[in-house]
Amino acid sequence: MLAKFITLDGIDGAGKTTQLNVIRDWFAAHRLPVLFTREPGGTPLGEALRALLLSPATQVSLHTETLLMFAARRQHLEDVILPALSRGVNVVSDRFTDATFAYQGGGRGLPDGQIEILENWVQGSLKPDLTILLDVPLEVSLQRIERSREKDRFEQETADFFTRVREAYLRRAAAAPERYAVVDSNRDKAVVRGEIEGVLDGVFGVDKAA
Ligand code: TMP
Repeated sequence: MLAKFITLDGIDGAGKTTQLNVIRDWFAAHRLPVLFTREPGGTPLGEALRALLLSPATQVSLHTETLLMFAARRQHLEDVILPALSRGVNVVSDRFTDATFAYQGGGRGLPDGQIEILENWVQGSLKPDLTILLDVPLEVSLQRIERSREKDRFEQETADFFTRVREAYLRRAAAAPERYAVVDSNRDKAVVRGEIEGVLDGVFGVDKAA
């Protein structure tokens, strides 16, 4: 079976950390090779850029912020994602290019066309096989962000910003439903777990009854 590239995305506070553990458990249970990584980050350069991008002390223009996200992404693709996929190892990335469309595009107003130019240049035809989009109402996201000890540069943004980010994610998912699984993560833990397991079963052709 060809290795799959899976991404997990959603607004801050959507519950990615909990659901990453669900995905980890699923891969362990099915004994499938997998590599977990994240964006921005995933390489020494990417992690250094992440520290800059998330630091509230950083002053950066929208264009530069977007270029740095894609610079980190290119290194991540070359050093981590593409080699793993070509070795037959599935890759799960905590965020990918959907986050650029949602945060720099929806949140900050950069036109999609400009992001698409960078997407094509940096990724060529590579797109995730599956994007699990975790969705929660804005109030839930804001409450969870409020609970974090130190807010990063993005978490300090306004409710209006996160409304636009959420809408951009949902718009993208609605425009390409074959690639996205939108999961309402504001429900009972076991229900969300079951839904994510079902999505992975489907993508990997696992027969539940077997
Ligand atoms: P997280 O690891 O807690 O999700 O933090 C990463 C932050 O970076 C999050 O607020 C979303 C933001 N981000 C962008 O703005 N654009 C991007 O392309 C990526 C990958 C992340």
